[in-house]
Amino acid sequence: MASASASLLKSSLVLDKSEWVKGQTLRQPSAASVVRCNPTTPSGLTIRAGSYADELVKTAKTVASPGRGILAMDESNATCGKRLASIGLENTEANRQAYRTLLVTVPGLGQYISGAILFEETLYQSTTDGRKIVDVLLEQNIVPGIKVDKGLVPLAGSNDESWCQGLDGLASRSAAYYQQGARFAKWRTVVSIPNGPSALAVKEAAWGLARYAAIAQDNGLVPIVEPEILLDGEHGIDRTFEVAKKVWAEVFFYLAENNVLFEGILLKPSMVTPGAESKDKASPQTVADYTLKLLHRRIPPAVPGIMFLSGGQSEVEATLNLNAMNQSPNPWHVSFSYARALQNTALKTWGGRPENVKAAQDALLFRAKSNSLAQLGKYTGEGESEEAKKELFVKGYSY
Ligand code: 13P
Repeated sequence: MASASASLLKSSLVLDKSEWVKGQTLRQPSAASVVRCNPTTPSGLTIRAGSYADELVKTAKTVASPGRGILAMDESNATCGKRLASIGLENTEANRQAYRTLLVTVPGLGQYISGAILFEETLYQSTTDGRKIVDVLLEQNIVPGIKVDKGLVPLAGSNDESWCQGLDGLASRSAAYYQQGARFAKWRTVVSIPNGPSALAVKEAAWGLARYAAIAQDNGLVPIVEPEILLDGEHGIDRTFEVAKKVWAEVFFYLAENNVLFEGILLKPSMVTPGAESKDKASPQTVADYTLKLLHRRIPPAVPGIMFLSGGQSEVEATLNLNAMNQSPNPWHVSFSYARALQNTALKTWGGRPENVKAAQDALLFRAKSNSLAQLGKYTGEGESEEAKKELFVKGYSY
C-alpha cells in the first residue's frame, strides 16, 4: 500500500494530493456520514452524503476529455483465456500478465486513452518487470477503472434471458478498489432482442445498474452504466431503436430514483444497428443518425460522456461509426470504450512472441489514434492496412 500510494502521489496527473489523502481518510466518520446514518430530515427529505461529488464530476470529465476514450481491458480470466487461446497460448497468470503488460506499456498511449478498465486480477497485478499496473497507467495519464459486476446468470421466470450479479458486498469492494487506485467502475448487463426483451428483463437490468451506480458513487467511483443491447438477431435497425429507447428510459428512471448524480456517471451504450444476422446493412451515416436520435431523446445533457462499446463490430467499422457521430457538436463527449475493436489486431500481431511486442504495441497505438481522431470527427482512414482499406471501400467511404 505504502509504495502504491507514494507513487500515486508522485505521478498522478489526474488526482492531486489532497484528493488522494481525502480518499484515505474518508472512511472516518464525517459530518456527511453522520447524515448518512440518519438519512431523513425532519421535513422527510432524503439526503445523500455526496462526499465524493466534486471528485466524481472531475474524474468523469477527465475520462471524457477531447480526443480520448477508454481502453476496455477488463476481460475476465475466462474471457482472457479465450483471447489467448485464439493465438495458441495457455490461460496462465503469466500469459495474462504478459499480455496486459504489453497493453499498458504502449509508449504515448495516454494521448489517446483517458481510462483503462481492469479486471480485479489486473488492479492488483504488476507488469512483467515488477511495476504496479495501476502506477504504470497513472504515469501514462490514464485513469484506472475496475469491472465490478460478477457476471451474467439466467433470469428465472424469463424467456431464457439473463441478469447481472454483483450487488452483494459491492460497497466494501468499491471502497477497497478506490484504495487500490481505481477511480471509475463498470457494470455490464445485457438485453437480448431475439429473446424478448421481456419487461421483467429490462426492469431488472435497469434497477441493477441504478443500484450499482449509487453504490459506486458513494464510494468515490464514477460508474460506467452499460446496458448492452446485444447485436445478435435478424431484426432491423428500427427494432433496435425501439428497444434501446425503452431500455434507456427505464435506466434513467431508476438512476433518478436512486439519487445518482448524473454529472458523475459515464454511459456505455451499444450503437443502434441492425441485428448481426439481419439482411439489412447500415452505413456509418445511418448508424450515426439512429444512435444520435436515441441519445437526444433519452440522455440528459448533464451526462458528461457517452463511451460506446464495439460489440463485435470490426475495428474499422467501430471507428467509422464513431467518426460519423462526431461530425457536428454533441451535448456530451461521444467517444469509445472498446475492447475487441482496439485489441484484435494487436493481439494477433503479438501472437505470444516477445519479438512481436513492439509491432503489437504499434498496432494498438494506431487503433487508439484512429479512434481519437474519430472522437474529434477527423478520421480519414489514413494509414489503415490494405485489408481495412478494402472494408472502407466496400462501405462506400471516399478514401
Ligand atoms: P467490446 O468493445 O469488445 O464490445 O467490449 C466492450 C466491453 O463491454 C468490455 O468492457
